[in-house]
Amino acid sequence: MKQDLLGLKDLSAQQIKNILSHAADMKKVVLSDSKKIPNLQGKTVVNLFYENSTRTRMSFELAAKYMSANAANISSSGSSVAKGETLIDTAETLDVMGTDILVMRHNMSGAPHLIAPVIKASVINAGDGMNEHPTQALLDIFTMIEHKGHIEGLKVAIIGDISHSRVVRSNIHGLTKLGAEVSLGGPATLMPKDIDKMGVKVFNNVQEAIIDADVVMGLRIQLERQKKGLFPSVREYFRFFGVDESRLRLAKPDAILMHPGPVNRGVELSTSVIDGDKSVITEQVTNGVAVRMAVMDMLINGGF
Ligand code: CP
Repeated sequence: MKQDLLGLKDLSAQQIKNILSHAADMKKVVLSDSKKIPNLQGKTVVNLFYENSTRTRMSFELAAKYMSANAANISSSGSSVAKGETLIDTAETLDVMGTDILVMRHNMSGAPHLIAPVIKASVINAGDGMNEHPTQALLDIFTMIEHKGHIEGLKVAIIGDISHSRVVRSNIHGLTKLGAEVSLGGPATLMPKDIDKMGVKVFNNVQEAIIDADVVMGLRIQLERQKKGLFPSVREYFRFFGVDESRLRLAKPDAILMHPGPVNRGVELSTSVIDGDKSVITEQVTNGVAVRMAVMDMLINGGF
């Protein structure tokens, strides 16, 4: 039976650990001089993206190619989606062309869950609305383990637009399953009611969220998903909630700074911390290729 990756909500701690362990092997391929292994030879990976992407789409395409798969990309503009074709009809059309893995990003929460039961290909959620972005959280957790050696007992502070972030939801599911302590910080207007029921601590003061953190993760202000008026201006946002050097000093001395990207420089994070010695943002991007190789390999060849 085919398997899908729709969210970290659905995975056990052991499944997450298995993916991360395989990603460590895949990272050796990504960093090698000969980026070609036969694991997906003869298979076809299609990236169906209804929203913009640089990191996720390109890393899935490269991950597929590094594993010898056929890889193709389709976006809503320029496809028959622009003529009004439905999501299900589009997915079924791609399915019957011989697709083995359909990687899908959509602005509607639950879109990949709608598609997965009706097509033969394995579906990977590459971000659905404000719900989940499971491979982003896997690469984030992989990066934390590379630097800290473990997740259990780690204090992770996630700062920014919590309401609109699918990255934060996937990270909360994954990190709490693996035993981390997660603190959220951001404006009350961008903090969902009842988010504390997910087993996290909530602060409307960024400093308190960051104190003694092992990991500080900034989130993008998602201007495209917001109604007006949730904060006065990006300048005021940075003044009260942006992470700069003085706020980062509240974390542990060996803390790392993360961000899923793309970063609004000078809004969520100051340029000095983005380019500073605590930043692991570019490592996250490299790890995204390794994690996506591991997920696709395990969905097709077993072990998921
Ligand atoms: N982090 C992330 O999903 O980036 P992209 O939108 O560039 O894929």
